[in-house]
Amino acid sequence: MAGLYIETFGCQMNEADSQEIADRATAAGYVVVAEPREASVVVLNTCTVRDNAERRAYGRMQHFRALKRADPSLKLVVCGCLAEQDRERIPGVAPHVDAVFGTSELARLGDALAAWRPEFRTDGKTEERLLVDSLGGKADCIADAFSPLRAFVTVQRGCSYYCTFCIVPHVRGRFDHRPMPEILSDVEVAASRGAREVMLVGQTVNAYRDSATGADFADLLERVVQLDCVERLTFVTSHPKDCTEKLARTLGAHAKLNPRFHLPVQSGSDAVLRRMNRKYTVADYRARVAAFRKHCPGWALTTDLIVGFPSETEEDFAQTLLLCEEMQFAQAFMFVYSPRRGTPAARWEQIPAEVANERLHRLIEVVERGIRAYHAKKTGTVVRALVQGPSRKDRAKIAAKTMDNVTVIAPASGTEQERFVALPWIDVAVEDSRVWGCSGRVVGLAANFDAEAEKVYPRDVIDLIHVA
Ligand code: SAM
Ligand code: F3S
Repeated sequence: MAGLYIETFGCQMNEADSQEIADRATAAGYVVVAEPREASVVVLNTCTVRDNAERRAYGRMQHFRALKRADPSLKLVVCGCLAEQDRERIPGVAPHVDAVFGTSELARLGDALAAWRPEFRTDGKTEERLLVDSLGGKADCIADAFSPLRAFVTVQRGCSYYCTFCIVPHVRGRFDHRPMPEILSDVEVAASRGAREVMLVGQTVNAYRDSATGADFADLLERVVQLDCVERLTFVTSHPKDCTEKLARTLGAHAKLNPRFHLPVQSGSDAVLRRMNRKYTVADYRARVAAFRKHCPGWALTTDLIVGFPSETEEDFAQTLLLCEEMQFAQAFMFVYSPRRGTPAARWEQIPAEVANERLHRLIEVVERGIRAYHAKKTGTVVRALVQGPSRKDRAKIAAKTMDNVTVIAPASGTEQERFVALPWIDVAVEDSRVWGCSGRVVGLAANFDAEAEKVYPRDVIDLIHVA
């Protein structure tokens, strides 16, 4: 059997593309595998949004060099944003890479997979290769029994906003919104394959426009929640500029929507936002959040923040800290500005790395206080969460995500975990919380989000029953 192994770096757009690659591969007769040792083709779906993502992708290319040496029949493919950006460079740096496909070439990648398919032997891998396979780390891959529970559906490709720090418009092009009927059909297909949660993805989903009807993102959400097959719906990423009162009202009106809103602010200083070309002021952001909070009380508000942007002063940074204190974000992705070749800000005078890193630490301290407080409120309650799979740190525990996107983990034996495939909604009695999420015990299992849980007795109670 020809196996396809995919590693995905970066944002949900790449996750969505990886799903599409997996679909094309399956149609061409491949099986998507969870281990490189089982693969005939390895796909690295890369990211270049920050320097460390780029370095990681090159690191993984070098890692697979040893595997190719041990088994020259293995094909190594690089796609995604780094492939688009470094199309010319990759063959020089990693000559063992068999093919490079840009962000708009998924169909060509599918054709190549189909063309290679007859080349792969059906017998096992060489001893030498099995040995090499066991070396080295592993990134996110998409194949396990729990992965079909979540599906990504792309609503738009590219971005036309050209923030001065961002590489995305350069490697993915300008907005290309998909027709609404195509999106609805993809959602139905995802649900028919077992998706319990559909995530609509795009760089700026709330700028969505259906060119045939002029329908906007709120209209799209209305249509998707009306599909009976959709159990839970969520979306990323939104831009503050396109947050309308209509969108906030729509979010608050539908119980199928996960109560989380990701709204990157990037900075709390108007001067910095202007230089970033973010197209809103801090006052605009506050007003959008106020409208959102009015219509969606109790929802989690999450964000992205950049520190050390060229010419960010201590005063600018202090305003970011103040805004974070005020907003109490439930989660935040915090980054040191990373100059990206070809973007305007990369040509400007840079902030010294030690200043930027020191600001990042101060920011993390402030933001994490809010996150801890948000998570602490769950202690002593029972939360319903959708399973993700065994915890990466301890496979004797199950990891799941609540509807407001908080990670919860709880002990679960291998046989217990097998049951979660059919009963993927778990009720967890939260006993403790940390900055990464919450921990507790599984007290119930359900087949559907709205269904009453089948009770699970904790192990100490079962022991007591046995003793009695
Ligand atoms: N479209 C989204 C938006 O409007 O906010 C963001 C997409 S970007 C892939 C995800 C996040 O990466 C951004 O919100 C930003 O915080 C961060 N980011 C992008 N370029 C960056 C850079 N050059 N340096 C540091 N962080 C960056
Ligand atoms: Fe990048 Fe700004 Fe678009 S962060 S993806 S250019 S909204």
